[in-house]
Amino acid sequence: MVAASHEPQVSSSQVLVASNRGPVSYTLGDDGSLTAKRGGGGLVSGLSAIGSDADAVWVCAALGEGDRAAARRADGLLPQTDTAGQRVRMLDIPAGTFADAYNGVANSVLWFVHHLLYQTPLEPAFDTAFETQWAAYEAYNTAFADALAHDAEPGAAVLVQDYHLTLVPALLRERRPDLRIGHFSHTPWAPADYYRLLPDDTAAAVLRGVLGADRAAFLTRRWAEAFAACCADVLGASVERDGEGLRVTHDGRTTRIGVHGLGADADFLRERAHRPDVAERMAALREQIGTGDDGAPRRTIVRVDRTELSKNIVRGLHAYRRLLTEQPQWRGRVVHVAFAYPSRQDLAVYREYTAEVSRVADGINAEFGAGDWTPVVLHVKDDFARSLAAYRLADVALVNPIRDGMNLVAKEVPVVSDDGCALVLSREAGAAAELGADALVVNPYDVRDTARALHEALLMAPDDRAGRTKRLAAAATALPPQRWFLDQLAALRG
Ligand code: G6P
Repeated sequence: MVAASHEPQVSSSQVLVASNRGPVSYTLGDDGSLTAKRGGGGLVSGLSAIGSDADAVWVCAALGEGDRAAARRADGLLPQTDTAGQRVRMLDIPAGTFADAYNGVANSVLWFVHHLLYQTPLEPAFDTAFETQWAAYEAYNTAFADALAHDAEPGAAVLVQDYHLTLVPALLRERRPDLRIGHFSHTPWAPADYYRLLPDDTAAAVLRGVLGADRAAFLTRRWAEAFAACCADVLGASVERDGEGLRVTHDGRTTRIGVHGLGADADFLRERAHRPDVAERMAALREQIGTGDDGAPRRTIVRVDRTELSKNIVRGLHAYRRLLTEQPQWRGRVVHVAFAYPSRQDLAVYREYTAEVSRVADGINAEFGAGDWTPVVLHVKDDFARSLAAYRLADVALVNPIRDGMNLVAKEVPVVSDDGCALVLSREAGAAAELGADALVVNPYDVRDTARALHEALLMAPDDRAGRTKRLAAAATALPPQRWFLDQLAALRG
């Protein structure tokens, strides 16, 4: 506890970010050498908005052996040559503790609860293993709180990210009441009845942890309301509404609730999508897609996802099969280009899901494929340039998650599309709140509804498609990452 040595009235302009996955990762060579690789994404791009602020610190966890070796060698702060000048503190959390916190609690429990993924007759079953995992989650959150308390200047702003770090705001407030603490959830938030699947003490601890923040923010109003409903239901907190404003009061403290709908980074995407490597991949994809009997290029239904249980890739394939069955005129004239990039392969259920995606895709190809027509072109090797190539040539984009915090693919496709693209979008994606008006909105569980929407999307007249794409791109870029980040900071300090 170091609070006493800090003057609460002094306010620093320093910003700290805390997230499980940091902006850089390391691989360990056989000879012990370390190679750093910088990541992308909204947070990296958002943080760049504060420019070359030499004081800013990003605190993250070492995820694998390479990271742990780098964190140990650096004794905390990574060499700035690896981080493009950014100060990054990578926490060397013991591998077992990390695995229990990340795989055991964050990915197998909190992620499942917020995305409604359990098959409830058999799971979840909270027993001894969960007790051990929960203790690890507490230790891992404590390690973050300690590091932030150590690095923060008096009155600094700290932006804590996601379900991995729900306990950090309250733990950090105990240590440093002088700080401005924000928490941001990039996922949906579970409805109260489903949230109560969690053991009562866990359900309360997560909410109390987040309420330790001055401000807790979400991607859409819907998730913010769900969080407030859980606070009222589980903790008996009071929820106040004042116009658009939402506040939760519990144990004598009030936490403001905010909404910031992260948008696509148009400048970056348009520039990146017109580099030669993307053009090369477009040529290769066109070759794979081929032309129909009429000599016209085949139409494309594109999807790009991590192979994540919540993305609903398998039902998407079933909908495509139904389209080919019910609307035989599309046979030989359309290709489903599906990119499903591996994710969280440490978890057996993810490995099984990945295998099921391939099995169903192969089944469709075996049933319908003929001549040079491959109905489903599935790629599983992550390749950003190829994803952009697919975005550019898509006639239809299929984004049908069971539930999703936002879904940036839905926002990126319209921005880079060459000739306009019809968007088939799940009503359970956060993006539907902003894009629903110009998308074909579907119930992600309804395979018939999705097949019908795919058919309608393929038939959409070119001028309608172009008009919708323009409006979708405008809505998708309304809040680019840098403004998204600065808005949160201003609201936290305001
Ligand atoms: C998605 C979610 C984020 C989350 C991330 C973690 O992108 O939208 O909320 O932080 O997954 O993924 P990881 O690969 O680090 O488990």
